[in-house]
Order: sequence, then structure tokens, then C-alpha cells
Amino acid sequence: MSRDRTAGAQPSAVGATFEVETGPVAHGGHVVARHEGRVVFVRHALPGERVRVVVTEGHGGSRFFRADAVEILQAAPGRVDPPCPWAGRCGGCDFQHVALPVQRELKATVVREQLARLAGLEWDVEVEEVAGAPDGLGWRTRVRYTVDDGGRAGLHAHRSHLVVPVDRCRIAHPLVAAADVLDRTWEPGSSVEVVASASTGERLVLADQVPRGPAADRTLVEAAAGRRFRVSGSGFWQVHPGAAGALVTAVIDGLEPRAGESALDLYGGVGLFAAAIAERVGAGGRVTLVEADRGAVSDAVHNLAGLPGVRVEAGRVDRVLRALRLRRADLVVLDPPRAGAGRTVMEQITRIKARRIVYVACDPAALARDLAYAAEHGYRMSALRAFDLFPMTHHVECVATLVSASD
Ligand SMILES: C[S@@+](CC[C@H](N)C(=O)[O-])C[C@H]1O[C@@H](n2cnc3c(N)ncnc32)[C@H](O)[C@@H]1O
Repeated sequence: MSRDRTAGAQPSAVGATFEVETGPVAHGGHVVARHEGRVVFVRHALPGERVRVVVTEGHGGSRFFRADAVEILQAAPGRVDPPCPWAGRCGGCDFQHVALPVQRELKATVVREQLARLAGLEWDVEVEEVAGAPDGLGWRTRVRYTVDDGGRAGLHAHRSHLVVPVDRCRIAHPLVAAADVLDRTWEPGSSVEVVASASTGERLVLADQVPRGPAADRTLVEAAAGRRFRVSGSGFWQVHPGAAGALVTAVIDGLEPRAGESALDLYGGVGLFAAAIAERVGAGGRVTLVEADRGAVSDAVHNLAGLPGVRVEAGRVDRVLRALRLRRADLVVLDPPRAGAGRTVMEQITRIKARRIVYVACDPAALARDLAYAAEHGYRMSALRAFDLFPMTHHVECVATLVSASD
């Protein structure tokens, strides 16, 4: 949504309250309503409710308002009492007020809508539950806290720098909660990150003001898909305990690697997918992992040592692909950050003429945009799975398989 340049000249609407009937869910954790001809994005509501809202962003000239539902006048089926007492104040969760199966339906609706709107695809989407957090709580193995002016660690309010001094984050994994960050005093204005491995029980507390130790003190070990992976505290690893296993299975099912094939693992992190592919293509195959973060590159080299035919390329995917001048690869998996791969990289990838491309996406809008670029270059989606790796939030992970449109 673009910034409104007329904001200064208009009276603020923040704090205004009114009643609305809520319409469909929209990407970003809110539902859409209308008030006096204006679109209102409402948090803490469900589609089909009558609620009183208070405006949190907007002014007289705004095309839309953002608002919070503060009184539920008529509830929709699927509304529950939030299990977290900080719901509504802390910005971390969007769907604490929604029963878990309904959360997954809302996410499926958003994925469906993004695919239709941005990629022109009509697709039936089901969001799958992932083992490890049956009540949707206690799953988050990585939490970054911000320290307020009084030295108390807390979590940010929604779209705000305000620090909410929570007593405990209900979606944090027990290993994170046991780090006792919230009971201690920290340097005002700093941040503290707790990184835990649910698979090995290891934990790191990374604080701004604590002199950081040698590299070995800043890595932990994760176990997934029958292997162990070294992960730097600052490096990427999925935060839900069931995520790595579920995604490796989905990626391998999508690629169906055969002995002797060549594969690219783009945005490869510490080597989770590359290791699984390398095991399947065997000694006669080749896997090239591309990753930009130096710590992750060093972890990937460590984790993939001993697997024949694996190469790790450090650098941005677009630059590495350009430099490699790769003409052919049988398989490509890409797992870009939120913004997606973008047109240039999708063009580079489709030129490789892979038999299968598997796209792992944490933002359905970015996925849909990139699918549209791939379609311009002869690839169509043949399968899609979606996983609830972030219960209580609006986030959803998708794994799309692409094949040549002529197949
Ligand atoms: C969503 S993570 C995926 C990591 C890995 N596939 C996994 O599942 O553990 C995205 C990774 O892409 C890396 N990255 C971000 N932008 C990049 C770029 N332009 N080129 C290469 N790697 C990039 C990040 O450092 C991060 O490790």
C-alpha cells in the first residue's frame, strides 16, 4: 500500500470508532470492511461479523483506514477466546481469536486469492497442519525481543516501535521461554534474540550488549531428514519444529530426483534441501547450492562436506547464475526471502530448462507474482502444497511444483 502524501493536510482519523460488517479475509492478517465508502482493514475480526472498530491509521483524505475490532457485536463461527492474554496488544500474532482449523481456512483463502489475482490461476488450496504444535502454541524456536527504555525485554506492537512487556510469549517454544530473557534487565534500546533447536535441545541467547564469543559459541546443531546441520545464530533455519522435515519431503516429492541428475538449490541456506537432493542424485549427480549470507555459506560447506558432487557458491542468486553461465540443470529448488525471486531471477531460472522447478515460498503474493513470470517463459504450476508453519499468525508456507508448459 502506498504512502499517502496528503497526510499532513488532513485531520487524523486515529481513535475514531464506528460499527462495520466485516467482509473477506485479506493478505496480511486482517479482514476487509467498508465504512462510508472507504475500505477499512480490520484486525482481530473474522469475515461475517458485526464489530465496533477503532481506527489505528488513516486521516480524512485516506483511501483506506486500518482499524482494530474492539467490540464484537455479532461473532462468526470459528471465533474463540485468545489463549494469549497479550493478543491484541502484542503485534506478533494475528489470529489468536480464531480456531486453528478456521485459521487454516483463512490462509487457504488468501493463497487462492493471491494466485487468482496475481497469477491468473484458479487453484484449490488446502493448508496442512504440521506436527509439533497441536494447539498452535509453543512452536516458535527463534524469538527476537526488543528492550524498552526501562531495560525490559518485550515484543513490538503491530506496525509500531512500542515495546509490549509480555510476561511470556505463548507461541515461543519452551526452550525459548526457559531462557528467562523476560525476567532480566537489558541495555535499553538493545535487542535480544533467543535461538533454540527443538531437535537437539541446544540454545543461544544473542544479546546486543554481550560481547559475542568465538564463532563456535554462536552456532547450534539442528537435526532434520536424517542429518545434522550446523546453523549460525544469525543464519536461517525454519522456526517451526516440524517445518524442516515437512518441507524436505515436499521438495523431494516435487522434484522426484533421479540418480545422476544435476540440481540447483537457490537461496540454499545451510544446505537442508541440497543434502536431501544430493543423497538422491547420488555420486553421479551434481548439486550446486547458491547462498548470499557468509555465515550460512560457511555452515553449508561444513554440512555438505562428504556428499559427492556438491558445490557451494557464495553470492546473490542473480549474480551467481549470470557468472556460472549455466545452460542446463535437471532440477531447481528455490526458497527466496519474503520479497520473492523477482522477474530477473525467474527469467534466469526458466532459461535453464529444468525438468522440474520447486518453489518454496513464505509469501503467497510473491509466489504468485513469480509464477506469472515463470508462465511467461513456458512453465506452469503442476502441484501446490501449503503448510501451517506459523499458527496464530497470518503467515503460510507454500511449495509449488512447476513443469514445462508443454509437458
Ligand atoms: C527462506 S531462507 C531459505 C534457506 C533454506 N532453503 C532453508 O530452507 O533452510 C532464504 C535464504 O536466502 C538467502 N538469501 C537472501 N537473498 C539472497 C540472494 N539475493 N541471493 C542468495 N541468497 C539469498 C538468505 O540468506 C537465506 O539463507
